[in-house]
Amino acid sequence: MCAYSRSMTAFDESAALPQDIIDMFARSGVALTIADCTRPDSPLVGVNQAFLDLSGYPAEAVIGRNCRFLQPQEGPGPVRRRMRQFLRSPEQYDEKFVVPNVTRDGQPFLNLVYMAKLARGGETTHVLGSQFAIDAPGRLDPALYDRALSEDLRQIDVRARDAGWTLLGSFNVLASSHSIIARARMD
Ligand SMILES: Cc1cc2nc3c(=O)[nH]c(=O)nc-3n(C[C@H](O)[C@H](O)[C@H](O)COP(=O)(O)O)c2cc1C
Repeated sequence: MCAYSRSMTAFDESAALPQDIIDMFARSGVALTIADCTRPDSPLVGVNQAFLDLSGYPAEAVIGRNCRFLQPQEGPGPVRRRMRQFLRSPEQYDEKFVVPNVTRDGQPFLNLVYMAKLARGGETTHVLGSQFAIDAPGRLDPALYDRALSEDLRQIDVRARDAGWTLLGSFNVLASSHSIIARARMD
């Protein structure tokens, strides 16, 4: 079942996520998603308004689905395999990927996707995602995005710990959007 707050942040109530994570999603200005990797095909169990704005989808169309629904019909290319490997690898905690995606109304865009794993009781149970449309007109400066995301993640990290959740990863890849975007443009 989906629960909607006034800001249209949406969560699967049965996912029983810590309230601090839910609050942070509602407050954040950057696109945030969370997937439950203990469920078949790692569906999204939470998204915020900034993600709905970026993708153009309503909440009820995304909760319960794997986030690959944003990829073009022909697929996103080799990055898909790299994302799959990252998600399967116990040694990798957080990473950024540039992925060709398509909005609900059919607009292609380059999506800078950040993923960080969340553990509970020593087991990775969830993956937190953040999306940034590289080529959207009037988009935020990538350095400001990095700063806003770092700040949100640090707060999630501190608060989630109180509920027994650990945000894995060094956050080192966070301050790198500028160079990743420049590289993606040259490819
Ligand atoms: C939290 C989270 C957010 C994700 N966000 C996106 C996204 O915005 N765009 C995208 O193309 N893939 C995204 N992915 C990756 C896909 O869901 C999927 O893992 C990827 O396509 C590789 O797996 P597959 O080969 O099974 O499709 C996200 C994954 C997770 C766990």
